[in-house]
Amino acid sequence: MDNIRILGIESSCDETGVAIYDSEQGICAHQLYSQVKLHSEYGGVVPELASRDHVRKIIPLIEQTLAEANCKPQAISAIAYTQGPGLIGALLVGATVARSLAYGWNKPAIGIHHLEGHLLAPMLEDERPDYPFLALLVSGGHTQICEVRGLGDYRLIGESIDDAAGEAFDKTAKIMGLDYPGGPLLAKLAEQGDGSEKRFPRPMTDRPGLDFSFSGLKTFAANRVAAVEQTPQNMANIAQAFQDAVVDTLAIKCKRAVKQTGFKRLVVAGGVSANKQLRHKLAQLMSAQGGQVYYPRAEYCTDNGAMIAYAGFCHYRQRQDAGLAIEVFPRWPLSEKVCS
Ligand code: KG4
Ligand code: ZN
Repeated sequence: MDNIRILGIESSCDETGVAIYDSEQGICAHQLYSQVKLHSEYGGVVPELASRDHVRKIIPLIEQTLAEANCKPQAISAIAYTQGPGLIGALLVGATVARSLAYGWNKPAIGIHHLEGHLLAPMLEDERPDYPFLALLVSGGHTQICEVRGLGDYRLIGESIDDAAGEAFDKTAKIMGLDYPGGPLLAKLAEQGDGSEKRFPRPMTDRPGLDFSFSGLKTFAANRVAAVEQTPQNMANIAQAFQDAVVDTLAIKCKRAVKQTGFKRLVVAGGVSANKQLRHKLAQLMSAQGGQVYYPRAEYCTDNGAMIAYAGFCHYRQRQDAGLAIEVFPRWPLSEKVCS
């Protein structure tokens, strides 16, 4: 039987990602264009600029990806694209291109939930988790804990009631005068901390449940920045105390989720899963629980086409392909996931 080859397209926010997943070789081409420079002068993503830049970049990236894989359109089995959640204009660019190519090439198109892409990304690694597992999704837009019992079987058991973890990192970084997106810069600065800053709160850990709230932490950080002399060392100390608080809070809730479900495998995905301290803490936690933690490699932690191609492959195998409708869902809870 011929290999299955899925072209994956991601365009939900400020990254245009295109990749090809091959059932025999795995990811055989992967192209990513980040719009970070475009948005950095505004201190955040400007949706209209994002859509226009996706329009400019998406076709050249698809051509480069096909060339990298030495693959002709006829050899593609299906086209997977991010159907939501995300910025509506940005989603529509990817969805329209994917559906149009699928029509032109006479191939099926498969709409993928962005968060499903993130949570399946660790499956692209040699050390991949078996079902069932817990998934901690920590990105710029979401902080969620899900029970994952199988492909498409996702139960949301905890989420942020306000800012997502990545959003809290970015907003706090902005308060501290760091460039956008500040999450990775704040994490780097935190490495220089000497541990002398006062302890930040661990929000919502003193009450039962698995929900999060991170918006108060950025206010706490803002007050500390205003209260101290703004030397590089003091800023590093505040970054460290902030990161410690976010990481500890995520770890406390993951420990609860492990206790509640009895699941011994934890998948951590989304942009914040690149955070070194979070990785270290969760590895310690899961080994103490007699379990294991799984991550995507760094380049598949943030938004990318590979995770969409892989999720598309999983659904293609299940023959969940669709007709010609072009639909996107800017707001789309993972538990209501329907693949089209
Ligand atoms: O998954 P992602 O690329 O986009 C969304 O779907 O939101 O995640 C981006 C988020 C940003 O908020 C970014 O600051 C954060 O991930 N991030 C980090 C780190 N690397 C990326 N936050 C903390 N530490 C990092 N090392
Ligand atoms: Zn994402």
